[in-house]
Amino acid sequence: MQAVKISDKVYWVGAIDWNIRDFHGYSTPQGTTYNAFLILSEKPTLIDTVKKEFYPEMMARIKSVMDPKKIEIIVSNHAELDHSGGLPQAVSEIQPKEIYASDMGVKNILAQLHPSFEIKPVKTGDKIDIGGDTISFIEARMLHWPDSMFSYLEKENILFSNDVFGMHLATSKLFDDENDEHIWLPEAEKYYANIVLPYSDIALRFLANVKKMNLTPKIIAPDHGFLWRKEPARIVNLYEKWAAQAPQKKVVVVYDTMWGSTQKMAEYVTEGLRQGGMEVKQMSMHGCHRSEVAHELLNAGGLVIGAPVINSEIFPSMADVLCYLKGLKKKNLVGGVIGSYGWNPAPVNALAEWLKAAQVELAAPVVSAKFSPTPQVLESCRQLGLTIAQKITEKINP
Ligand code: FEO
Repeated sequence: MQAVKISDKVYWVGAIDWNIRDFHGYSTPQGTTYNAFLILSEKPTLIDTVKKEFYPEMMARIKSVMDPKKIEIIVSNHAELDHSGGLPQAVSEIQPKEIYASDMGVKNILAQLHPSFEIKPVKTGDKIDIGGDTISFIEARMLHWPDSMFSYLEKENILFSNDVFGMHLATSKLFDDENDEHIWLPEAEKYYANIVLPYSDIALRFLANVKKMNLTPKIIAPDHGFLWRKEPARIVNLYEKWAAQAPQKKVVVVYDTMWGSTQKMAEYVTEGLRQGGMEVKQMSMHGCHRSEVAHELLNAGGLVIGAPVINSEIFPSMADVLCYLKGLKKKNLVGGVIGSYGWNPAPVNALAEWLKAAQVELAAPVVSAKFSPTPQVLESCRQLGLTIAQKITEKINP
């Protein structure tokens, strides 16, 4: 295992997780990386410490360029275990003189890892001298945890941004200009939609504040996926676009079905949406993952949900995705509800309450079918699609 040089004094010493397929409920078909960075300054410094299981890989990469016991400083930018899980082992083996984290990072590391070592809290604007260079800290609260933090290496001009600007993509190519956009862009979108989306307002304020600092890093180095060196502004601009959540002429139709009734209704809604000029993504929860639905919604202006009833509750696969989407708080969605039931319509009607709670603007009343939809019900589904399309078009062109 070799460290990879990314600038005069900085090496990538992270790990590649080719095999992970579920990242706490988010499907990761292309794996991920846990990036960590070694700064060979007069006081050698390690930025982040990878997931516990990958500690040996990180340490082998460090040993390829230096004796780890010469590391004097460890910075932990984020307390989530994919970046701090290796910290106790690292501290035990390296015996650093100083360990730094944000104030909330100290608290969260204490609560998660119960360490016996001291961690010094830092806040935005604090700087540490690492001998020949300086690291300044920028707290990135709620992007996406309260403890999230950026570290900026001033002379080398590298911004270590932790989760922000990352993606779940295992790749042997360490830089943006080495990776194909048709592979990375969907992964970057999916990552934003599943990790950062609920904090979009915070992200916009944070990015505006960072711009005022006049940082123009030559490299943005997140802790997942590759590093941005060719055009670091590209991912910043994408974040600004995604965070704005402007309505778009696309509708996601998410449903599940027991005996085909809700599916048939979904097809007629889709037809109405298509006739109304919308791009449509129809997704059955029999074959789609909740995190794929979130991804499709990122660039959408509408959401239609459809569920059958089982034992006086909505179908469990729909409860799963609805709970997940509610937490992601996507803005600017026009919505509709369809569903089928045998003898208790209440769970289908309750879906409308769920959409309202998620701040989705309902375009029309619930369309439901007793057992299988009649031609009139199917026409109501088509009309629902047309109505949603019209409302989205009016939002885009008021
Ligand atoms: Fe990659 Fe929030 O951890």
